[in-house]
Amino acid sequence: MAIEQDIQRAKMRHGIIGDSPALLEAIGRALRVAPIDLSVLIVGESGSGKEFFPKIIHENSPRKHRKYIAVNCGAIPEGTIDSELFGHVKGAFTGATADHKGYFEEADGGTIFLDEVAEMPLSTQARLLRVLESGEYIKVGSSNVQKTNIRIVAATNKNMLDAIRNGKFREDLYYRLSTVHIEVPPLRERGHDIMLLTRKFLHDFSDNNHTPPTELTTDAKQMLSGYRWPGNVRQLKSVVEQVALFEAGKTVYRTCLAKYLPEAGASNMPVPMGENNFDYNKDRELLFAMIFKLQLDIENMKKQLAGDGNNARININQNDLKREPRKLIPAYEVDHAAASPTIVRTHDYDNTEARHTTQDLGHVAEVGYAAVDDPAHIKTLEETERETIVTALDRNDGRRKATAEELGISERTLYRKIKQYGLERHN
Ligand SMILES: Nc1ncnc2c1ncn2[C@@H]1O[C@H](COP(=O)(O)OP(=O)(O)OP(=O)(O)O)[C@@H](O)[C@H]1O
Ligand SMILES: [Mg+2]
Repeated sequence: MAIEQDIQRAKMRHGIIGDSPALLEAIGRALRVAPIDLSVLIVGESGSGKEFFPKIIHENSPRKHRKYIAVNCGAIPEGTIDSELFGHVKGAFTGATADHKGYFEEADGGTIFLDEVAEMPLSTQARLLRVLESGEYIKVGSSNVQKTNIRIVAATNKNMLDAIRNGKFREDLYYRLSTVHIEVPPLRERGHDIMLLTRKFLHDFSDNNHTPPTELTTDAKQMLSGYRWPGNVRQLKSVVEQVALFEAGKTVYRTCLAKYLPEAGASNMPVPMGENNFDYNKDRELLFAMIFKLQLDIENMKKQLAGDGNNARININQNDLKREPRKLIPAYEVDHAAASPTIVRTHDYDNTEARHTTQDLGHVAEVGYAAVDDPAHIKTLEETERETIVTALDRNDGRRKATAEELGISERTLYRKIKQYGLERHN
């Protein structure tokens, strides 16, 4: 009985919505393992809500008063990840002008969340295995062995057994990390949770943005329940917020809803957790980020216009905006096989938590407005992305670090995009 109460408490504390047995089971497992000092691996598709779990584990463990550091292994350049995790000594490499503490030193006594752990380079995996086995590590450029007492919680949306088969992940490390496995279920398997989440996201959106409430017909609700949700809760939130914005105050029928659901016909198809799925999810995530930002800026624009007292213009723009989902959705169906992966999660050096990067794409919104003003030309995702990067590079005088920071993407991703779009001259 007590565990049920603890599950409800954890849900409340983190704003986790859902009552499906598989979700409750996952939270229950996190709570049971929390006080016991074992490594935990959280697995589940992209957008399924894995990031709640390491926090639940940390705050229900005896380490709760010590540091919790979230590290996104996919967002740190390969050349610096060892130094970030384990620190370096002065003179270890060009630019190492002073000793640097790594996360394993900083979080001593606490918990480190290794997100996207499958992205960790093999050389770093060897160091990590040593820490897990003996608590020992060596700073980059040093020969002194140091001790640390860290609990590791890792997460991945990749099929780790595939990664092991392909020689990208050490089998011995995998078994060390996954002493306890927690599976976060895909949204399509959570039944009524889809409606609970929809209701919450619709309500939050109209509440936060003072828009009239939107209703869904029974058919539309069934459509949401039967959709396969490849981007899981992240995708549902994005879809519901688009509907709440563009269909504000209306009753939404199935046919209208279909505009917001890519490949709405292909419901309940299993999503493979293979190599390509990773890239697919990343590109989708970037698009979500753009749509989110576009929505926010539209809201701001509406408020500004309302402030001007220019109601006629608001009406005209609202009519224009109603067409937006049609323009944006096809771009969602970008050829993911051809598209290169886009890491949209950033590593936050100052904060203790890895953050999503849905916040910093202001320029994308400008491009979005251009599309609204000029319906004749609808930019493709690639054009939008290229333009975004060029503008940011110009604004930062070609400085890649600052540009990556402004865009909320890793430097590694920026390098790849610069190459992909032939933008080397901007440096
Ligand atoms: N059950 C839930 N209730 C409310 N919000 C949720 C739930 N699950 C996920 N979310 C929200 O969905 C978004 C995606 O979740 P999260 O970032 O944890 O995904 P993830 O599993 O880490 O995905 P990825 O593998 O792409 O990193 C977040 O905004 C999160 O708050
Ligand atoms: Mg995540």
